[in-house]
Amino acid sequence: MEISLTGIKPTGTMHIGNYLGAIVPAIEMAKHYERSLYFIADYHALTTVDEPAALRNQIYDVAATWLACGLDPERTLFYRQSAVAEVFELTWVLACMAPKGLLDRAHAYKAAAAERKDVNAGIYTYPVLMAADIILYDATAVPVGKDQKQHVEIARDLAQKFNRTFGEVLVAPEPAINEEIMTIPGLDGRKMSKSYDNVIPLWAPAPELRRLVMRIKTNSQPPEQPKDPAASDIFHLYRLFAAPGETEELRARYAAGIGWAQAKEALFTVMERRLAPLRERYKALRADEDGLDRILARGAERARETARGTLRRVRKAIGIA
Ligand code: ADP
Ligand code: TRP
Repeated sequence: MEISLTGIKPTGTMHIGNYLGAIVPAIEMAKHYERSLYFIADYHALTTVDEPAALRNQIYDVAATWLACGLDPERTLFYRQSAVAEVFELTWVLACMAPKGLLDRAHAYKAAAAERKDVNAGIYTYPVLMAADIILYDATAVPVGKDQKQHVEIARDLAQKFNRTFGEVLVAPEPAINEEIMTIPGLDGRKMSKSYDNVIPLWAPAPELRRLVMRIKTNSQPPEQPKDPAASDIFHLYRLFAAPGETEELRARYAAGIGWAQAKEALFTVMERRLAPLRERYKALRADEDGLDRILARGAERARETARGTLRRVRKAIGIA
């Protein structure tokens, strides 16, 4: 059975780059798999977040965001990583399969070690917990951004090493990188990222959305001059929110000469058209934390059944039955 699984780290405000680059493609992908599991990687967040109130809020923000954007919790198991404690038992078993050299080479650890003095063991063993997240549910495909590809490859290595040592018990996952997804530009033309402070928050109210769109960097061409759509971040974003016919119309307006303010107005219109109903849904979901808890608990319950089965196989294989 083809099973897709991904983890969502609850850190920071969600932005248009996350929406177009991660949320929409993952929700679309779930439709093509017999089984899908998407979970909130709250224990992974603990490697960097040390404010309980912030973490708690971000978990609900993320849950409400994915549901508002169309994740169907009946089709896709949606749960908190921390609600299935079985993952830690598998983490230990996989840690015993993980050569230190492999973890030394993990990009995320290397980056953290390069920039700060206090690297904790959680950051170091991050890929092992991530491997357990994946392997516990027999996942075959793991949709992730390019930055997480190596971690999925580590999960694959650990599953294969286990199988060589103890017999064919675990499913070795593959990263599913969607090469078509482009990098969404931020207000300053660099990649939209919370670390660059150039984001358009996904749930910005309409006036703020409009204000931010108006701030997107453009060149200094005068209004009447023909403009190159391929070199325009505004056009790039417009295309992702507009119908194909509308995109062709805007292309013609670029060729004829369009003022940047008008182009931005057109972009705001299509963004607001798509986001307004999602924003309303988000607000309603976010206001009902008990409702979110119920959805996540139900997902965890279903996920736990699979987790128990995998651990039974693992314990038997290693001689701890
Ligand atoms: P940030 O760069 O703001 O910290 P994250 O690293 O938390 O964003 O990214 C979460 C998900 O959103 C990842 O799957 C990542 O690939 C995707 N993503 C983030 N920014 C962009 C962007 N500008 N364009 C496309 N995808 C993005
Ligand atoms: N490490 C991932 C990130 O930083 C989140 C994550 C945790 C994950 N466990 C996972 C992703 C399992 C895919 C599969 O974005």
